[in-house]
Amino acid sequence: MCGIVGYIGKRQASPILVEGLSKLEYRGYDSAGVAIIEEDEIKTTKCKGRLLNLEGKLSNDPIKGNIGIGHTRWATHGEPSDKNSHPHSNENESISVVHNGIIENYLQLREWLTSKGYKFVSETDTEVIPHLVDYYYKGDLLKAVMAATSKMEGSYAIGVVCSKEPDKVVAVRKDSPLIVGIGEDEYFIASDIPAVLNHTRNVYLLNDKEFVLMTKDGVKLFNEDGEGINKEVYHVTWNADAAEKGGYEHFMLKEIHEQPKVMRDTMTSRVMLGKNITLDDIKMTKEEIHNINKVYIVACGTAYHAGIVGKYVIEKLARIPVEVDIASEFRYRNPIVDKNTLMIVISQSGETADTLAALREAKSQGARVIAVTNVVGSSVSREADDILYTWAGPEIAVASTKAYETQLVAMYIIGLFFAENKGTLSKEKIEELKAEMLALPEKAEECLKHKEVVQKFASKTYMHKDMFFLGRGLDYAVAMEGSLKLKEISYIHSEAYAGGELKHGPIALIEKGTIVIALATQEDLFEKMVSNIKEVKTRGAKVLALALEGHEDIEKTVDSTIYLPKVNSLFTPLLSVIPLQLYSYYAAVQKGCDVDKPRNLAKSVTVE
Ligand code: G6P
Repeated sequence: MCGIVGYIGKRQASPILVEGLSKLEYRGYDSAGVAIIEEDEIKTTKCKGRLLNLEGKLSNDPIKGNIGIGHTRWATHGEPSDKNSHPHSNENESISVVHNGIIENYLQLREWLTSKGYKFVSETDTEVIPHLVDYYYKGDLLKAVMAATSKMEGSYAIGVVCSKEPDKVVAVRKDSPLIVGIGEDEYFIASDIPAVLNHTRNVYLLNDKEFVLMTKDGVKLFNEDGEGINKEVYHVTWNADAAEKGGYEHFMLKEIHEQPKVMRDTMTSRVMLGKNITLDDIKMTKEEIHNINKVYIVACGTAYHAGIVGKYVIEKLARIPVEVDIASEFRYRNPIVDKNTLMIVISQSGETADTLAALREAKSQGARVIAVTNVVGSSVSREADDILYTWAGPEIAVASTKAYETQLVAMYIIGLFFAENKGTLSKEKIEELKAEMLALPEKAEECLKHKEVVQKFASKTYMHKDMFFLGRGLDYAVAMEGSLKLKEISYIHSEAYAGGELKHGPIALIEKGTIVIALATQEDLFEKMVSNIKEVKTRGAKVLALALEGHEDIEKTVDSTIYLPKVNSLFTPLLSVIPLQLYSYYAAVQKGCDVDKPRNLAKSVTVE
């Protein structure tokens, strides 16, 4: 989704804004722009395409000034074009706005403003904002922005500058992320922390309808009634390097390799031998856990796939029925929810519009909500009753890898936490499972060593147009994620099927040379899976299998095999996903795809 930045200070704004935008590229964008106050006039440069285009324009025609706003746009209303790019301004270009989100009533506002004589030049919803601010402007930018937002419906994070008050940046958020960076005699706004990390580690995490007034002397925050508010400064402890490539060719590859570490981080101080699972931000009592009669896990994309693993795990460990829903479906299907329903939302960004809406829907019907999210202070974390942060660090590649891995860890932690509280497993069994879990990061390191086999298989198969992923039980859940990864970054069409479902249709598509990736890591389902593999082999498929060490006999049936270290079948998803991520990565590299920024995709989908 769009990214916004803003700067006020003593340095030249232009390079700082562009650098900030480059840290937000991961959100997905198709155009970029900046507006900077140069000698009491707003100068705007914006264009379709990559940031490089904007940088080129700015180096040909530099803008000098210490105050400005910048934007990367991911088109929603109006095609990607120079004209539709942000910043947008009023007619005499005295007010300039960057916006992330969607103004849902923009058509009514546009009509109303047109009747007042305002002229529109773009197809965007955003353009109503500078005109509205202009309409309400009586010499005080903050007041005008407050009045304008009171008329706006939908979601927004906005940054505004005005040439009549050339010493201010005003900003506000509602349902779209926005933070304020507090430097030394310089201040920033941004959609996300990495955009300011090269300059400061001190930030304010804004809540909805909190207004920001930045001058060179400092930052003031106000509520929607215009009253000043105090906010705690949040100190970012993770390193700026965490948002850099660190020697890897792509962020995705770096993030795949970080998985053992982030698994450890997510377990640290929560999963300990000889101690109960400790979850600081989940305040549920034993009695409340006993009373849960149903769990809904709700999420989108990769997070939804982590939820499917969560279903198997929580049902098995804690014996509570779990339904997994795609957030955009849940919110409109009138789900059966009561006060004993627990909802677990999973969202890396914590800002996904559908996930947030599903959370609100369940809360309004009385459910308790746990948020599993990677972003401290994100919208879902603020609206949920309880939180389990995944400690994946910033994930930059659009296709999620390490965040998924930590979401899986979170599912096991919740499963064990409920099992402990409900007494569904003996103390000894829980200790045994914890020990297995704590050994997983090391086993994940082992899985990363299979790079060459995977790369080889990818170089022989990347030119195929279709593939199949097969698995049973937990392997099926991981097959879905493997298939999604492949689609997302290599644009190869693929389908994931439960092994037992094969005969009910998909087998009709298997012919000589069809590529099948078969997961056979579940001990109790191994033989059944081998039968499914034989079914596709007989029809000419080429099969890459994933199996646990000790099952070398599978080689008689398949073309290539990747072995995973021996582990309790319950935990295989944390390992088996790694070769699948690597496979999609290498297939995409072979095809020359833009791995970290796949076409048409956005990292954080903050619109419906
Ligand atoms: C987008 C991203 C996916 C992600 C999904 C959910 O579609 O491209 O990688 O899985 O959103 O995002 P969330 O931040 O809620 O986990």
